[in-house]
Amino acid sequence: MRTVAVIALKGGSGKTTVASHLALAAHRRGVDTMVIDLDPQHSIQSIFSARADPGPACVTSTGPKLMSAQYAALGLGKQLLIIDTQAGAVEDVTEAVVLADLSVLVVRPTLLDLAGLVPTLNLVRRLSKPALVVMNQAPAAREGVESPLVKRAMRGLEYLQAPPAPAILRARTIYQTALETGRSAEEMWDKAAAREIAALWKCVDNAAAASPPEAREA
Ligand SMILES: Nc1ncnc2c1ncn2[C@@H]1O[C@H](COP(=O)(O)OP(=O)(O)OP(=O)(O)O)[C@@H](O)[C@H]1O
Ligand SMILES: [Mg+2]
Repeated sequence: MRTVAVIALKGGSGKTTVASHLALAAHRRGVDTMVIDLDPQHSIQSIFSARADPGPACVTSTGPKLMSAQYAALGLGKQLLIIDTQAGAVEDVTEAVVLADLSVLVVRPTLLDLAGLVPTLNLVRRLSKPALVVMNQAPAAREGVESPLVKRAMRGLEYLQAPPAPAILRARTIYQTALETGRSAEEMWDKAAAREIAALWKCVDNAAAASPPEAREA
């Protein structure tokens, strides 16, 4: 079983949006997936309870109970565990990073968000754990030309020695509306959003597979 923690100590960066899309992407590709909701707001649990079709299993937990929840998922034969975390909850996020094979750091392309990424990067680096930075809510590229905001954010991430994954999620209403009914943008009409999610899944799946597994097969 692979475990992926979706983290950002800064609030509102898009953790829940990314975590639910990754879980749905895996489910749609036949991967038996469980989501653990570590956020007391329980946003991701609300998303999956609104889903009419079969989808990933979703349970709530807390940092101190995370390891038992991970072992329970392993015992159920799950192939992938996605952990959605709470902003600012350093102890719980640390627990999630320690138990994960891969941490996905979600950041928006603004200077404030890049500054807010630094404590999250420090946490992951102190623990020497594999991580992938995903840029979310990026303005659209126009006629193949990248937005100046995104270019500047790329330079900022290079300066932080945290180059982003090649898959960038653009600011799209479909990411908001799809999740209202527990669906992925891949299940909707917006082909561009679907391509972004497919690319994101590929990056995360490859990076998680390249990491030494924390939790061994049961
Ligand atoms: N790529 C995107 N395009 C458009 N809207 C987005 C995108 N990503 C996230 N959002 C919106 O931004 C808001 C914050 O996203 P989300 O809840 O995923 O962030 P979060 O990091 O989980 O927040 P929190 O820290 O409160 O848990 C939500 O309203 C969500 O629908
Ligand atoms: Mg959230």
